[in-house]
Amino acid sequence: MPDDATSKQRIDVRRATPGDAAALLDLKLRLDQETTFMMFEPGERRSSIEAVRAEIEERLASANSTLIVAAHEGCLAGYVEASGGVFNRTRHSAVVVAGVRTHYAGQGLGTRLFQALVDWADAAGIVRLELTVMTDNAAAIGLYEKFGFEREGRRRCSMIVDGACVDELALARVRPGFAASSGNG
Ligand SMILES: CC(C)(COP(=O)(O)OP(=O)(O)OC[C@H]1O[C@@H](n2cnc3c(N)ncnc32)[C@H](O)[C@@H]1OP(=O)(O)O)[C@@H](O)C(=O)NCCC(=O)NCCS
Repeated sequence: MPDDATSKQRIDVRRATPGDAAALLDLKLRLDQETTFMMFEPGERRSSIEAVRAEIEERLASANSTLIVAAHEGCLAGYVEASGGVFNRTRHSAVVVAGVRTHYAGQGLGTRLFQALVDWADAAGIVRLELTVMTDNAAAIGLYEKFGFEREGRRRCSMIVDGACVDELALARVRPGFAASSGNG
């Protein structure tokens, strides 16, 4: 773990490789413990390293999906993944999921991951990036809006966390200028 700002600047933000499988599974298992803002409850995730490796390989082979990680001293501090649509009418869009370890949060890592994500999306011809976020996740909403994601609606009681209904916001970033230039009213 880093203990000063200098070491945090050495965090490498890059596309995942199959060799990241064990570290990625470890990252996701730790995030399941650290935050209630993501999908899995602690102990719920059942993936194996082999399954995660296959998932990474699938993303590397896909033109409209990606997985970007923040690597630091042999571990992963965060990730963002985009899963592209599988139908002709949705291949231009991708669903985004992101997480940064608590120890590294609030220091610009989410920003670096999302910059890499939108750079990839624009280069890959992805028009629409979409995600959902719990309404009380101010840090995540701030990050997404910083990158041009706009609120599209509220998903009422879409999650039940610790026995209580939680609403989510649906947000999306449409590549700047695309909707207007494609003649969509
Ligand atoms: C949400 C998350 C990815 C943000 O990553 P991060 O590395 O902390 O983000 P950054 O430090 O780059 O901050 C990016 C922006 O987020 C917003 N932000 C960050 N922390 C914030 C906070 N505590 N309150 C309000 N806004 C905050 C700001 O807009 C900030 O931009 P700025 O520094 O230019 O003002 C990270 O906190 C996280 O993974 N949390 C737990 C899991 C999670 O919530 N995942 C998303 C599920 S939808």
